[in-house]
Amino acid sequence: MTLRLVFSALLLTSVRAHLSRLEYRATPQAYRNCINPNDVALTFDDGPYNYLRSISDQFTAAGAKATFFMNGNNFDCIYKPQHVADLKYAYAAGHMMASHSWSHPHLPELSTMQVQDNLFRLEEAFSRILGIKPAFMRPPYGEYNSNVQSISAARGQNLALWDWDTGDASGNTTDQSKALYDHVGYATPRLSNAIILHHEVKEHTATILVPYAISLFQSRGYNLVTVAECLGVEPYEAIGLPQEESAHQLPALDVAAPSNAKTGTPVFSTTTAPPGPTATPTPNQYIHPTANSAKCLTAASNSDGAAVQISDCVSAGSASQSWTILGSALQIFGNKCLDVNGGSTASGTKMQIWTCGTGNANQQWSLSGSAIQWSGRSSCLDLSGGRLTNGNVMQIWTCNGGTNQKWTRTTGPGTTTPPPPPPTTGNKIKPDSSSATCLTAPSNTNGAKVVVQPCNGSAGQSWTKNGQTMIVYGSMCLDVIDGSTANGAKMQIWSCTPGSGNANQRFTVTAGRNIQWVNKGKCLDLSDGSLASGNQVQMWGCSSGNANQVWNIV
Ligand SMILES: *[C@@H]1O[C@H](CO)[C@@H](O)[C@H](O)[C@H]1NC(C)=O
Ligand SMILES: *[C@@H]1O[C@H](CO)[C@@H](O)[C@H](O)[C@H]1NC(C)=O
Ligand SMILES: [Zn+2]
Repeated sequence: MTLRLVFSALLLTSVRAHLSRLEYRATPQAYRNCINPNDVALTFDDGPYNYLRSISDQFTAAGAKATFFMNGNNFDCIYKPQHVADLKYAYAAGHMMASHSWSHPHLPELSTMQVQDNLFRLEEAFSRILGIKPAFMRPPYGEYNSNVQSISAARGQNLALWDWDTGDASGNTTDQSKALYDHVGYATPRLSNAIILHHEVKEHTATILVPYAISLFQSRGYNLVTVAECLGVEPYEAIGLPQEESAHQLPALDVAAPSNAKTGTPVFSTTTAPPGPTATPTPNQYIHPTANSAKCLTAASNSDGAAVQISDCVSAGSASQSWTILGSALQIFGNKCLDVNGGSTASGTKMQIWTCGTGNANQQWSLSGSAIQWSGRSSCLDLSGGRLTNGNVMQIWTCNGGTNQKWTRTTGPGTTTPPPPPPTTGNKIKPDSSSATCLTAPSNTNGAKVVVQPCNGSAGQSWTKNGQTMIVYGSMCLDVIDGSTANGAKMQIWSCTPGSGNANQRFTVTAGRNIQWVNKGKCLDLSDGSLASGNQVQMWGCSSGNANQVWNIV
């Protein structure tokens, strides 16, 4: 099989079951506006180029998200190592990646074949570099017709346009663009939401416009979110795994030449990859579930058929935990290999060791990012049931990029101490009536109360706004107990994915300094106005004159 076939199979089978995928009706969507109130999506076209990392960092630092509509070969080639690294970096930071076509043509002027080819090439780059299939395409110049729209829909993409243009690529001055932000952010009546067009390739956009826009919209109480989030849909049609690093060098992709669509020349060479250098062994590899570095992938005994399971790492080192990477084999005890029991491709098939056999397909693995993927298959080594209990036997499962499929390697047994606590660089949240009192989660456990206490710099008083979630202790969300919408519902913390908590974990900060529960009309409220240490805070119907609902995030 060619790389492309292997990878297409991987994507098809790794669509996350819970994706609320977009529906493609007879007329596919072309979105020009956000749907969710109070959301602003700042979007950046025409990269990857030189300012991707800077823009990504600025949004990340502000607890905000950006959306990038990428080309494959416009200002620069997407496969350049710098751009591959920056794309992975911005994607890992949670910013949204979407298609802007391969070469930025006027799509309505192309034949159906040419449009298909131009969209395909960019999607293939996203597959290889990020392992994703985008759910949105922004047509270059905003130009599309019904043919472009239905081709995009068939490729799993809705169109995303914009309702405001900064003019950053049309020769407008930065003052004009700032005036546009002011117009949107201070409009009367207040605008519900906005999608704003920028270009990643402009230095002044990264250095002047982005800081101005982030600060303006956040101070006006808007949430800076991705296009998908402001529409309430998933950003990707599928999430799989990127190709191995070396795969970027394999395709005979002539990036400098104009599109070959007219002649139908295949984009990828079908010749096989040149043989790699003779594999050198990498010994003494301890393989940990990323969730816990004190646990090690362990062979139960040194015999054919012995289970491969999770056990506490032996701090002095142990032959049953010390793996050697040799080509695509993971060896242990010198001549045994990590092996899929019976070679069954069914998810849930257990892992064992077996005497290594040259070319034995059940023993071929590719280490790609934090995943250990069965080579040529869409299955990955998986921590069964997410259980870290000693003796839990490992399995294969359809690759999904989830926590159970994230592995970390160390040379030697690695540390047996738990990972360090996350840095406490967040903000304090203080009731307006006392600058010495702080919103506090006194203990880092699910269901722990959220109270007010005297400010003393403890980790439970350090909050970070990430998207619409309010995070403490790195990955705990401010949360309304049982999601009750009753006045007086008390607040707790609960573990969550920062930036995408559930409906009970989403809040926006308004211009009036209220911390408002999204879509519920309830606000964080200092119960009875009491500053007594330990007073558990609550939700109450928002009221602009209520001093108990005013919070200072400092
Ligand atoms: C950019 O300049 C054009 C041409 O002068 C003008 O029509 C447009 O309104 C400007 N855009 C902004 C955001 O000021
Ligand atoms: C902050 O105060 C709380 C409650 O009095 C106490 O439990 C905690 O240890 C204090 N933390 C620091 C860092 O002083
Ligand atoms: Zn463009």
